[in-house]
Order: sequence, then C-alpha cells, then structure tokens
Amino acid sequence: MKQLLDTLWEDYLALTPDAKRLHEAFQAAGEDNIINDHIALRTFNRGELALDKFVEFFAKFDYVPMDEYHFEEKKLRAYHFAHKTDINLPKIFVSELLLEEMSENVQAICNSLIEEADAHIQQNGLMLPSMPWRTISAEEYLSLRAESEYAAWLATFGLRANHFTVSVNHLTTFKTLESVNDFIKSSNFELNQSGGEIKGNEDVCLKQSSTMANTVEWEFADRTMEIRSCFYEFAQRFNIPGTSELYQGFVAASADKIFESTDVAA
Ligand code: NI
Repeated sequence: MKQLLDTLWEDYLALTPDAKRLHEAFQAAGEDNIINDHIALRTFNRGELALDKFVEFFAKFDYVPMDEYHFEEKKLRAYHFAHKTDINLPKIFVSELLLEEMSENVQAICNSLIEEADAHIQQNGLMLPSMPWRTISAEEYLSLRAESEYAAWLATFGLRANHFTVSVNHLTTFKTLESVNDFIKSSNFELNQSGGEIKGNEDVCLKQSSTMANTVEWEFADRTMEIRSCFYEFAQRFNIPGTSELYQGFVAASADKIFESTDVAA
C-alpha cells in the first residue's frame, strides 16, 4: 500500500506544484512528519470504472468500504475506504459520477472514454494512477464543464488523486485548523471560500478547509488551455460525543463544498 500511496503522491505533486510548495512550507515550519487523513479519487459509474470495481481493487490492499455518501446536486455517489487494521494509513474517498443523470451530450463523450478504459482495464487490470483513455479536446472539456465540473476534471485527468488531505490532528506545531489556515494565507496560498473557509464544525466532529486547485497549462488534443488541476486539503477531527474516539467519517455537506475547489475562479 505504501508504494501505491507514494506513486499517487508523486503523480499528484507533478500536477499540483502548489501542494509541493505548501508541503515544503509546513516542513520548514517544523512539521517533519506530515500524516494524511485521506486522499480522494474520482471515477465514472460504468463498466470497469464503477465504484464497486474499486471495492475489489482496494480489497487487495486490505481496504474496506465504510460509509456511503450521496451528493444529489453534483450527481455523485461515494464510499470512504479504510484500512482494516492500520489506522495510520489514510482513508480513501472514492466518488463516482452518476452518468445516467447527465445530458446525452455528456454521456456520449464519457461513454467513449469508458469504452477505451474498459478495453484497457480488461487487458491490464485497474491501475492507479492511470489515464486509461485518450487526451480529450479543449472543446470537449468546455462542453463537459458547462454541465459538470467533475466530469470535465475526470475526463481530463483520469484516475489519480484529486487531493491529498493533511491530518491536522497529527501536526505538532499547529494545533487547530484555524492556525493552519492562517499559515496557508500568510504563505500566499488561496483558500476555497465556498461555504466558508472552514467546512463543518465541532458538532459534526470534522472541520475541513482546502486550497483552490492549482492552475496549470494543460495540453488538450487540439490546443493548450489554462485549467484547474488538484488541490490540498486539511482536516481536523473531533471526538464522537461521550467517547474518546475520533470521528472517522465524512460530512456530505462539507465535502459538497470541497468539490468546488476545482471550479473555475469566480
Ligand atoms: Ni477530501
């Protein structure tokens, strides 16, 4: 599992230079052992890419699905996976786009990618990170984004980490998410303000914040265009009331706003 996580991390950093710089800023501030709370992946709900295929994939690494989440507006279903025994391994949040709820145009573009992926995966197995379909065109990207930012991101970037999330509970210099946010802003990084800088609160046992996704020059099949890639997230967990046990789930209302970290800047 460590090798898989390392590969996902390197792939993510290559696409998210801001995360690399921010990670280094935390190290320079004395955080030399940064632990991840979770990482997040995106997929389509069809064929070899469906969420249930990820259940089989992660079972090989002793990860099991814990809770299921629904995002009505964004038309997503998700599981968070956790390792059976090692609580220091990050949770993995995987969401799938419910394509039958999308327009015919979006379905047509995505189905062509899924067909390619199915052929690829049936031959080679599911691999992470991977780009199991062609490079889409900027026109296709814009057409997808007009309806679903999620679909556009996934079609462009494929199966890779959309974000890594630092566990604030494991930090030593910073004790609260508020102090982490202050540090991020003073280091000149932009935080996602959708739904407020901090999503969630102590009552739901989870507070989260995230940077806005990195802007990258992306080479589409027809031309290069500046788009948002991946972002860095921070999570602070609190005890389940009446226990000394940290809450380990996710809060759908908060995750809903976090998804907007890859939206176009307003
Ligand atoms: Ni997250």
